[in-house]
Amino acid sequence: MIQFNETTKTFKLDTKNTTYVIAICDEEQFLGHAYYGAKISDADVAYLLRTEEAPFVPSKNNRDRSSFFDTFPTEYPGNQVGDYRESAIAVRDAKNHEAVQFVYCGHRITDEKPALKGLPATFAPKGEVMTLELDVADPVLGLEATLFYSVFEKEDVITRSITVKNASGETIYLTKIMSLSLDMDQEDYQMLTLHGSWARERQMDFRNIGYGKQSVGSTRGESSHQDHPFVALVSEKATQESGSVYGFHFVYSGNFLAQVEKSQFDSLRVQMGIHPDNFCYQLRPGDSFVAPEVVMTYSANGLGQMSRNLHDLYREHLIRSPYRTKERPVLINNWEATYFNFDTEKLLSIAREAKKAGIEMLVMDDGWFGYRNDDNTSLGDWTVNENKIQGGIKYLVDEVNKIGLKFGIWFEPEMISPDSNLYREHPDWAIAIEGRTACRSRNQYALDLSRREVVDYVYESIANILRSANIEYVKWDMNRQLTDLGSTYLGKENQGELCHRYVLAVYELQERLLAEFPNLLLENCSGGGARFDPGMLYYSPQIWCSDDTDAIERLSIQEGTSLIYPLSTMGAHVSDCPNHTVGRVTPFATRGNVALAGTFGYELDITKIPEEDRAQIPEQIERYHKYNPLVRGGDYYRIASYRENHMYDCYEVVAKDKSEALITFVQVLNRPNYHSRRIHLYGLDPKKQYRIEGEDKLYYGDTLMNAGILIQNMWGDFQSKLIHIIEGGN
Ligand code: GLA
Repeated sequence: MIQFNETTKTFKLDTKNTTYVIAICDEEQFLGHAYYGAKISDADVAYLLRTEEAPFVPSKNNRDRSSFFDTFPTEYPGNQVGDYRESAIAVRDAKNHEAVQFVYCGHRITDEKPALKGLPATFAPKGEVMTLELDVADPVLGLEATLFYSVFEKEDVITRSITVKNASGETIYLTKIMSLSLDMDQEDYQMLTLHGSWARERQMDFRNIGYGKQSVGSTRGESSHQDHPFVALVSEKATQESGSVYGFHFVYSGNFLAQVEKSQFDSLRVQMGIHPDNFCYQLRPGDSFVAPEVVMTYSANGLGQMSRNLHDLYREHLIRSPYRTKERPVLINNWEATYFNFDTEKLLSIAREAKKAGIEMLVMDDGWFGYRNDDNTSLGDWTVNENKIQGGIKYLVDEVNKIGLKFGIWFEPEMISPDSNLYREHPDWAIAIEGRTACRSRNQYALDLSRREVVDYVYESIANILRSANIEYVKWDMNRQLTDLGSTYLGKENQGELCHRYVLAVYELQERLLAEFPNLLLENCSGGGARFDPGMLYYSPQIWCSDDTDAIERLSIQEGTSLIYPLSTMGAHVSDCPNHTVGRVTPFATRGNVALAGTFGYELDITKIPEEDRAQIPEQIERYHKYNPLVRGGDYYRIASYRENHMYDCYEVVAKDKSEALITFVQVLNRPNYHSRRIHLYGLDPKKQYRIEGEDKLYYGDTLMNAGILIQNMWGDFQSKLIHIIEGGN
């Protein structure tokens, strides 16, 4: 619900449990941010802007105009006009000035969620979501903008974005544009972010907020392994189920900045947007710029509620794939099985054995094209290597289909190897700066996707392969980050647009792919999970979570990922041991139980693994089919974290109708001379009776939640258990 009160000049945006209030302030029509948090009944809370306290508003005290801006909680702060905190926008105008200051001009309230041109964004049918469009302008610059706020009532989410337009007669350069700026008082918040590296993505990190600025960000051209486009403010005593949590998440796959600034007056300014480093966008007269969307949610019930809000939003209002609500085929991927060393016969032998075990799709990973027998060559040459794939792709796919499996394929479309025909023909298609030795990474360069002919070449290369055979799945990889930001195509005034144009082109390519192949199951990937972000979810319903497939490492990677993403999006596979990344040996059963929290599949040579492991595959797949509807669509609760207790991990998924729940318990370290462990369940109906599958006794939901259950007979490290709770007596 969105209401505008003419008298108090306030906008009140309400979701089921939260309220957001904006107020128009003083004669100059500044936009102030009055409130965001748990739901309140009054709209007139403009007193929270503190404009009645000295230094007062400019109309009452213009001699201290700068002090006003220095303290005012601003809805969208400008640059260089008195507010010394971080600005949300900056420009370079025809006179080389950088100042901007927006004031309110008008607004519309609609019952629609507008799309963002060229960008991924949340969506909803007309009538289901209300949007406030606030028009603002800087009359001196001739810059106009619209601030968008869409209210997802049920999910307790408000999304924000901004579009700016150069309405002046001269070129303006946009040097910074945040999608979110939010001023609030510091009460007792800590900052929660997700940091990582290759093979250890999305590790939760809490820090105290000090005076000044603290931020995470990426200037790597993608959302990255290292930092994540997410930040939460978490009240100090918050737990999974209690305490205040504000979550902010950026629907974008490129450079980002997520920052919290604590001011001299103990106020906080939270910001999120495209990273201003290496960013400068030319706006000629009449040009517009659309900034990506930020998702905001507030939970008064701890981190768990924030997770569930975001899970619901993404499942219902961001993922478009027809697979969104469907079970994904259980796949077997040959990467860890063979690396580059495979041919048609090897793949068919894997497919035959996989079929016997109940696996449903074979995915041919890296190494099938050009002369790619290792990772030094051929990216860009998307023609099949018939020395390896004897008979060609169509033959292979037909044979795999005859065996009874679907077929999927790996591409790394955005890349070019220096040792490739493509590079020999078009060295200027690589991102590089003339005269500088461009950084190679995994011996490859990234393609200059700001160039139309490159985008078309990439598209046709992939589409031609997909048109040539019955390929039902694509793993879209991106294995290096951007450096040497130069384009031989863009003019000198436009070099600062390269990173954003690159991301827009990736979106365009995936959009085109899905338009031509609407039933394609697309899985995004980037050296594991370096581009696991909400932007990519708009195109692919699942993303490869990490190259680290070790069941124990996966506990914290999947904990951090599921903090903000639905389980249905997490690519998770059972692999062979000793694990290829950490060398650890874990029981095959535990590898299966941990992978069941995601999309589920195998990444091993099924013709070579021990018979006792292979024998477990049919049962694991049976479990996948049994539990996946619940895992995919249910409410997620974190019961215990190995990250915190260093001994065990435990999480639960409860059906929306509370008729069943699945608990996964993994014992990382065994403890001698110790009783069974007690865990408390969450999310059940206290008045319903439940049974633990395999036992006869009935328990009320309140017993299972308050008194808990015992996890017994865990002998040895890395043991795990699935516990299925079912309503009623049968
Ligand atoms: C990346 C992916 C892997 C695999 C390799 C192939 O690292 O994350 O799963 O596809 O590339 O080169």
